Amino acid sequence: MKNVIITGGTGLVGNHLSKKLRKLGYRVNVFSSSIKNENQSIYYWNYEKGIIDHDIINKVDYIIHMAGANISSKRWTVKRKKIISESRVKSGEFLFNKIKENNVSLKAFISASAVGYYGTITNDEIFIEENLPANDFLGNTCKKWEEAADKFNDMGIRTVKLRTGIVLTSEGGALSKMKIPIKLGIASAIGTGKQYMPWIHIDDLCDIYIKAIEDDNMKGAYNAVAPEFNTNKEFTRLLAKALNKPFWLPSIPPYLMKMIFGEMSDILLKGSRISSNKLANTGYKFKYGNLKKTLESFNF
Ligand SMILES: NC(=O)c1ccc[n+]([C@@H]2O[C@H](COP(=O)([O-])OP(=O)(O)OC[C@H]3O[C@@H](n4cnc5c(N)ncnc54)[C@H](OP(=O)(O)O)[C@@H]3O)[C@@H](O)[C@H]2O)c1
Repeated sequence: MKNVIITGGTGLVGNHLSKKLRKLGYRVNVFSSSIKNENQSIYYWNYEKGIIDHDIINKVDYIIHMAGANISSKRWTVKRKKIISESRVKSGEFLFNKIKENNVSLKAFISASAVGYYGTITNDEIFIEENLPANDFLGNTCKKWEEAADKFNDMGIRTVKLRTGIVLTSEGGALSKMKIPIKLGIASAIGTGKQYMPWIHIDDLCDIYIKAIEDDNMKGAYNAVAPEFNTNKEFTRLLAKALNKPFWLPSIPPYLMKMIFGEMSDILLKGSRISSNKLANTGYKFKYGNLKKTLESFNF
């Protein structure tokens, strides 16, 4: 039986992925910074205090590193930005030091990353993995996050980084926040509505993580986004339709978004197209490639 550690495995994606991996016969151990429940294979870790379960880390075959403070739950103050970055980067470096110190023969290190790597911008470019990281908060965070993962690669361990788009699921995540105004009958695009919203269904994302474990040819960065490109306006209209609600109000002006969310509003007001061709070239076939069908498939 293969041993997998998922850091942040109590979260939206990790929880779904743990269930899928267990069904496939993997032994999944979750590293949590807030919960300890060894009967359910949840082990407390704290990268700042240097706490980790040595028995579990010494036996691990694959690490999936998805821990990180949520990027949209609080305003981006200087302090919050530091937590968002360090909870991903320093925790990754901590894992690297532990694997190295204990001479663990890790088969692969798979790290979450985000499409924010390419920057919070709207332009005509279709971004591919070879593009450079943007010089803004999310671009710099993703760059450092991936550099921490690359330390494993430099040590000869196969390393995969999944630059993830907005994860869609029927419960929780971004959709649960987007549904609130629409259900109240105030469905409207944000800003110009022309910004793209790269997305991925949670089932596809988890299957891609599993492929990253099982396919030795996968190495480096991959954009984990559905192949279809959708603007914010299209997205909101399709979601309103899936919820049987009207879409008619004028767009929410950018200044209002800035007033409510501060700098974080950029992730709602901006967005570009991201290519999933590299992933498709690995042979991965998306189950959910069309936004209309994807939203209609949810049991809202
Ligand atoms: N969901 C999306 O739309 C999306 C899009 C792009 C990228 N991603 C990335 O994919 C990863 C997983 O996403 P998700 O939606 O499952 O995230 P999530 O639900 O927010 O879960 C992340 C987990 O990280 C742990 N965590 C939070 N703050 C931490 C801290 N300060 N130090 C260490 N661990 C901390 C938490 O687990 P414990 O409290 O148990 O430690 C939390 O459950 C994240 O890194 C996220 O940035 C997600």
